[in-house]
Parts: sequence; C-alpha cells; structure tokens
Amino acid sequence: MTVLVTGGAGFIGSNFVFYMLDAHSDDRIVCVDALTYAGNLETLSPVMDNPAFRFVKADITDRAAMEKVFEEEKPDVVVNFAAESHVDRSIEDPGVFLNTNIIGTAVLMDTCRKYGISRFHQVSTDEVYGDLPLDRPDLFFTEETPIHTSSPYSSSKASADLLVMAYHRTYGLPVTISRCSNNYGPYQFPEKLIPLMIANALNDKPLPVYGKGENVRDWLYVEDHCKAIDLILRHAPVGETYNIGGHNEMRNIDIVRLILQRLGKDESLITYVTDRKGHDLRYAIDPTKIHKDLGWLPETKFADGIVKTIDWYLSHREWWENIISGDYQNYYRKMYGSRS
Ligand code: NAD
Ligand code: DAU
Repeated sequence: MTVLVTGGAGFIGSNFVFYMLDAHSDDRIVCVDALTYAGNLETLSPVMDNPAFRFVKADITDRAAMEKVFEEEKPDVVVNFAAESHVDRSIEDPGVFLNTNIIGTAVLMDTCRKYGISRFHQVSTDEVYGDLPLDRPDLFFTEETPIHTSSPYSSSKASADLLVMAYHRTYGLPVTISRCSNNYGPYQFPEKLIPLMIANALNDKPLPVYGKGENVRDWLYVEDHCKAIDLILRHAPVGETYNIGGHNEMRNIDIVRLILQRLGKDESLITYVTDRKGHDLRYAIDPTKIHKDLGWLPETKFADGIVKTIDWYLSHREWWENIISGDYQNYYRKMYGSRS
C-alpha cells in the first residue's frame, strides 16, 4: 500500500518513515513536509534514494498542493504527523498553531474525502486531556477522560481531534486517532526538554529548568510510538481512539540530573528559571485499551532508551549543531533571555 506521511521531516515522523521502510518493504512511503524550522531534510538523507520513498515539499494547508500529491500518488493511508508541536512557541504566537494544526488537518481530510482513502490516522497527544494533580498518583488519562486543554498548542490539537471525529460521523471518513505521551529518541529538535538539556550540558551552558522541576511527564521511546501507530493502521477498527504511553513517569529535574550524570557534568549547571505559563503539572497515560485490543506494550525501558538517546546526540553532533547555530540562536535569546 501507499502511505502518505505528513510531517515526516520532523522528529517522530522521520522515525516513523524509517520504521515503515524497514518493517514493510512492500509499502511505498510518500512524505509531505513544509520544512518549517522543525523539519530537516538532512534527517531523511539516508532514504532519499530509496525507490520505495518519495519526499514532497508542501504545506498541508495548501489545498491545491495536497490534491496534486493525491492525484500523483493515490495514497491508501494517510498518517498526519504534521503540526506545530512546541508548547512554548504556542504561548508566544498561537496563530500558526491554529492554521497548521486545525486548518491543515481539515484540508487533508477534505482531500482524503475527494480522492478516497482506506484510513486517515491523526497523531494526537495526551495534552488534550489537560493535566493531573501531582498528589494523585492513582489517576491516569483514559480514552474517556474529558478534553480539557491548557495551552494554545493543546487546544489546537484537541480542535483537530474533534474535527477528525466529526468527519467520521458526518462523512463516514475512516479515521483513527492516537494520543501519545512525551516521546524521546533520535532526531528530536533541541528545543524540547531532553535534547535541549543534552546540547546545553555538552556546551557547558546553563540547563534552564522551569519552576521547581517537579512537573511530571510520561516518557516513551519514539520507536515504541511508531510501532503502536503501525498496529493501529493495520488492525484497529475505524472510529477508534487509542492512548499510547509508557507507564514511565518522571519529574523533569530527575531527567536533567540523569543527563548530567551520564555526561559527567556538574549539577551546578542546573538553573531554575521562570515557569512556563499555564504549565501542566502531570501527564500519565493508561494504555490498557491498546494493550488489550492490539497487544501493544512499550518495549524500550527508560534506562536503556535514555542512554541510546544521549549516545545518539553524542555521535550526531553535526546534526544538532547545525540546527542550533542558525536561527535557533534568536529563538533561544527570545525564550530564555528574559527568564531569570
Ligand atoms: P516536530 O515539530 O519535530 O515535527 C513537525 C513536522 O511537521 C516538521 O517536519 C515540520 O516541518 C512539519 N510541518 C509543520 N507545519 C507543517 C505544515 N503546515 N505542512 C506540512 N508540514 C508541516 O514534531 P514531533 O515532535 O515529531 O511531533 C509530530 C506529531 O506528533 C505532532 O502532531 C505532535 O502534536 C504529535 N505528538 C508529539 C509528541 C512528542 O513528544 N514530540 C507526543 C505526542 C504527540
Ligand atoms: O505529552 C506530549 C507532548 O509532549 C507533545 O504533544 C508535544 O508536542 C511535546 O513537545 C511534549 O510537550 P511538553 O511541553 O511536555 O514537552 P517539552 O519538552 O517542551 O517539556 C517537557 C517538560 O520540561 C515540561 O514540563 C516543561 C519542561 N521544560 C522544558 C524546556 C524546553 C523545562 O523545564 N525547561 C525547558 O527548557
């Protein structure tokens, strides 16, 4: 089958492209990506000459461009990773989040309706459920947890989810949704917690921890997320939503300490800075449904995944140094310059 992967030049999308080309040699993978600041064609260089792969630079909000890709490629399945994905950027400038994450998803689904597909899969996030209190470790997000968003980013993702379910009910579009917890692994843009802390530690720069560093995230190795999406595409009934998470909750400060320890750097690099506005306290996924229905379980233990990830950043310095040497410097000054 032909799988159209949007956002495949970003972190999770590129890992998904690699996973799919490896796991399903009969499939054709077409990647559509607008190459925003977060998209990096260099990441896809190992597969650019693979005859089972094609890259198309296009914006998912551009209806004519989407129709051209569908006419040329006739995809069977669409997996929508394309999004503005960073919460801090959404707090600074929500507009582009609404445009890509909501309008872009609608344009893609309109195109799916026009040309016909067997599955539209929306890659969503656990952030649509808002947050959980720190003092109630017994609480988890299930698929029944009400949508209750905090940031412009999570609100835009929740809006997209609502549209996806509306297109299913109104037009019978064969959709599925997955809502995943925090991913980590190779090719993550160094604006996100783990790669930012690795890069700063390696450059002996301060490690900016928001608030007291007590916020909790549920970390999942990116390859486990890719496997879960692949299972959903092939085996889940249409109209279903699945939570994906690792039962691997950690406080930010503990992750930062672990990174410093692994890199042999001193904890004096840790700098507590002004908290994120509206900062979600705790995310924790109950993945019972995807385990029971599809047999999925996370395979990579955090202790192994974080070592693999740190080693990857050590051995791919050029990849992230290229990123942080350019426009990213302006971003960093803007986001962290006034945080004391
Ligand atoms: P990312 O920011 O690394 O990559 C996003 C990609 O989308 C980039 O390649 C970018 O160029 C592309 N893109 C952005 N706007 C576009 C547009 N208008 N048209 C076409 N392409 C566009 O993001 P990520 O961390 O890989 O996240 C991928 C998806 O997974 C997102 O939908 C995000 O909401 C979701 N998600 C991420 C996480 C996580 O921990 N990173 C967890 C759960 C869900
Ligand atoms: O839960 C899934 C979500 O995970 C995805 O939907 C988002 O696309 C993805 O970016 C991620 O969102 P978070 O806001 O949880 O990730 P981030 O890496 O930005 O931050 C993780 C935690 O670390 C959060 O509590 C804020 C904190 N943090 C982050 C940065 C960048 C810091 O303390 N310092 C920092 O410099």
